Amino acid sequence: MGCGFHFFLYNAAFAVAVVFISSCLHQSNAKVHDHDHGVVADSKLGGCDFSRGSWVFDDSYPLYDTSVCPFIEREFDCLKNGRPDKQYLKYKWKPTACELPRFNGQDFLMRFRGKRILFVGDSLSLNQWKSLTCMLHASVPQANFTLGRKSDLSTFTIPKYNISVKIDRNSFLVDIVKEKIGSVLKLDSIRSGDSWIGYDLLIFNTWHWWLHKGSKQPWDYIQYGDNIQNDMDRLVAFKIGLTTWSKWVDSSVDPALTEVFFQGISPTHYNGEEWNESKSETCKGQTQPISGSTYPGGPVPAAAIVKEVLSNMSIPVTLLDVTTLSQLRKDGHPSIYGIDGQNGNDCSHWCLAGVPDAWNEILYASLVTSTA
Ligand SMILES: *[C@@H]1O[C@H](CO)[C@@H](O)[C@H](O)[C@H]1NC(C)=O
Ligand SMILES: *[C@@H]1O[C@H](CO)[C@@H](O)[C@H](O)[C@H]1NC(C)=O
Ligand SMILES: *[C@@H]1O[C@H](CO)[C@@H](O)[C@H](O)[C@H]1NC(C)=O
Ligand SMILES: *[C@@H]1O[C@H](CO)[C@@H](O)[C@H](O)[C@H]1NC(C)=O
Repeated sequence: MGCGFHFFLYNAAFAVAVVFISSCLHQSNAKVHDHDHGVVADSKLGGCDFSRGSWVFDDSYPLYDTSVCPFIEREFDCLKNGRPDKQYLKYKWKPTACELPRFNGQDFLMRFRGKRILFVGDSLSLNQWKSLTCMLHASVPQANFTLGRKSDLSTFTIPKYNISVKIDRNSFLVDIVKEKIGSVLKLDSIRSGDSWIGYDLLIFNTWHWWLHKGSKQPWDYIQYGDNIQNDMDRLVAFKIGLTTWSKWVDSSVDPALTEVFFQGISPTHYNGEEWNESKSETCKGQTQPISGSTYPGGPVPAAAIVKEVLSNMSIPVTLLDVTTLSQLRKDGHPSIYGIDGQNGNDCSHWCLAGVPDAWNEILYASLVTSTA
């Protein structure tokens, strides 16, 4: 019979992998409302600030069942890793001034039929990319998809819609170059940019790696102009690097062809004082979001830098302003149900299904309102 399930997983960094799931359903079961844009077009969303609001319990969530997202990474699959509580799956982000439109994967696929989407950034980009691909697959589970990886670039496609959603793993956006003296982080050089041209939608992110020190710091020196130093204030370095990125966008992206987003700073939860618990508390064992719409710990300084740099650009870049809404979700991280299990405590990435689904709901709402 034609109900095939073929899985070829890549086993080397440079191998091309293809995962192919063929249809187990009859075509007649495929419910693709190709002309159903009504839900979206009728929503009154213009002018609503999606970044302000609160989390409300909603039993219709999560948006997808992770166990039927066949390509979920182990590191995000908290239920499979043994997380016992499930209430964290049941929250919807409710902006104060409006409702977010419910994510409509089939509408998304119709809008992006024949288009190319690229996420560029670190593992938080991977978190959001994985969420979006699971959301799209869940909306057309009967449709074939492909998933491949070549070096730092992973590509997810749904051939029926000729849509591709890729991720380029690039932690700083600006370059790290191996030189005689060692690895040099070049704050004013962005050679990878050439490979980001020609997409319909670009979603950038960088932040977490700017903080890494010691064995997790992948460079030996920082260079800016002719000035090479051992280290510098990391927020200052981040601002210079992000400004280099912003100038690259302004000079290299054609806004008539490409829509650009910046995925806002994703917060961590390693210090309970931020939410009025003791300093030693982390995301571990947290099962409830913070109620209301303000985070006691205050803003993340890097988020202000992002806003400042974006505000000074000549090409419009939409900020997915997810910082505050994510700060409220101290319950949303893998903690000991991540890749390292009990040996780790991941309060930086997010369980899937979970918080990045809301980031994608905001991405969807922004796309819908900007083209409505
Ligand atoms: C999925 O791909 C398989 C293998 O190429 C093909 O035989 C099948 O018809 C496809 N199914 C759909 C629903 O397109
Ligand atoms: C698929 O989309 C690409 C652009 O992403 C386009 O060049 C190509 O012609 C499309 N193919 C089909 C069969 O529509
Ligand atoms: C947290 O503590 C601060 C300072 O002590 C206080 O102003 C605030 O009301 C507290 N917030 C909550 C949610 O308890
Ligand atoms: C904004 O851009 C202008 C022109 O490139 C520059 O002179 C100015 O310093 C920038 N301001 C900020 C806040 O980055």
